[in-house]
Amino acid sequence: MNERTSQELDVVILAAGKGTRMYSDTPKVLHKVAGKPMLRHVIDCARTLCATRIHVVVGFQAEKIRSVIDDSDIHWSLQEQQLGTGHAVKQALPAIPQNATVLVLYADVPLIAPSTLSTLLESAGDSRLAILSVLSQNPYGLGRIIRNAANQPIAIVEEKDANEQQKLIKETNTGILAAPASQLHGWIDRLKNNNAQGEYYLTDILAMAVSDQVQVSAEVTEDETEVLGVNNRQQLAIVERQFQLQQANDLLLRGVSLADPKRIDIRGKLECGRDVEIDVNAVIEGHVILGDRVRIASNVYLKDAVIGNDVHIHANSHIEDTNIAQECQIGPFARLRPGTRLAKNAKIGNFVETKKANIGIGSKVNHLSYVGDSELGENVNIGAGTITCNYDGVNKFKTIIKDGVFVGSNTALVAPVTLGKGATIGAGSIITADVEEDSLAVARAKQRSISGWKRPVKK
Ligand code: UD1
Ligand code: CA
Repeated sequence: MNERTSQELDVVILAAGKGTRMYSDTPKVLHKVAGKPMLRHVIDCARTLCATRIHVVVGFQAEKIRSVIDDSDIHWSLQEQQLGTGHAVKQALPAIPQNATVLVLYADVPLIAPSTLSTLLESAGDSRLAILSVLSQNPYGLGRIIRNAANQPIAIVEEKDANEQQKLIKETNTGILAAPASQLHGWIDRLKNNNAQGEYYLTDILAMAVSDQVQVSAEVTEDETEVLGVNNRQQLAIVERQFQLQQANDLLLRGVSLADPKRIDIRGKLECGRDVEIDVNAVIEGHVILGDRVRIASNVYLKDAVIGNDVHIHANSHIEDTNIAQECQIGPFARLRPGTRLAKNAKIGNFVETKKANIGIGSKVNHLSYVGDSELGENVNIGAGTITCNYDGVNKFKTIIKDGVFVGSNTALVAPVTLGKGATIGAGSIITADVEEDSLAVARAKQRSISGWKRPVKK
């Protein structure tokens, strides 16, 4: 990259195609890899190269793409008709100064790594054309790199234009290239569409460079997966798995234990402390932070959560927009909804749902309960089957439960209601009024016993 520090770098991302083979109402480049549109992956990659300008060429559903990718500094170019990759680059050229280096990226090649592009830019140097090629196991459908007897690349031939002998070539075009803008303007102007697809192929500039005696280099990348293009949903799935495996391997190498690196999906950002253990089928979305020694059991979903040291999340728990302090125990089968805050050592057991709930130090909601719009103090014990009735069908109300309260099983707490410090609620109660501290509230029909009861007999 040093060679061009004095120069400007314009990245052109091609994203105008319809993606016919996706059979989708969504433009191809908005289809997601790890929860993020493919175009966004490519833009993020371009940003790491410190580009002077990033241009995105859009056409099919341009407005939809611009509404999803709303970065204010992107230079948008409209390609009204998709007449080919060369024609697409042409749309961005008016906004590119003559002295710049142009790097062309494809929005449907989302896993490209910044380090590969840095190397390509280095070999593009001052006035050379550098293309990125790859040795493909299965080159079908891709452009083939034609080399002369001296092994210099001299042309790219598309699958549909290739003869039988050319089809045997395994070195293929990734589509990614870097060129001096001064030369690119002229080459693009000279493109013709007299080929099998009737398109203006960007790839034809390679033969032009050769005839103009401009030096051409073809960087061969070793990593075929990095340059995988997505044209259909099968390829999208392959790219998704590849990306997930990459993330899992990064976690392992940073000291996180994964029961199976093939069975974790991270669609966002996961930060982990030391000695974190994650069992199979965890799905992570948004931004999740796990403290030291956190254990995540199987089939856990975590979205936008901060989880403290020594917390254990048991199997099949679903946790969203939640903050959990150290040493808490969650699940199995717990559902923590947005706005749940657990203080140290709290416990949420099976089939418990919480929402907008602050749960104090050492408090326990062990089984089959709903706690919503609630404030729980320290060392509160909520019995099985307790429901905070927070909603009258129109408005939401709060339940306040002070320190040391004991709520017996199968209790309904009809909000707004406050249970004073140390209060005890008898099982099966329907509590509609505030309960004083250290008192017992029982609100249920009194038990009757009828002695010598005779059961009915069959007639
Ligand atoms: C292209 C290359 C091929 C290469 C392959 C690698 C050409 C002619 N062919 O073929 O050599 O092996 O990529 O993946 O360049 N696009 C536009 N406007 C258009 C046409 C395409 O913006 O008019 C965009 C698409 O949205 C896509 C990218 O350019 O992001 C590539 O287009 P696509 O039609 O998928 O090209 P391939 O046939 O894959
Ligand atoms: Ca493609």
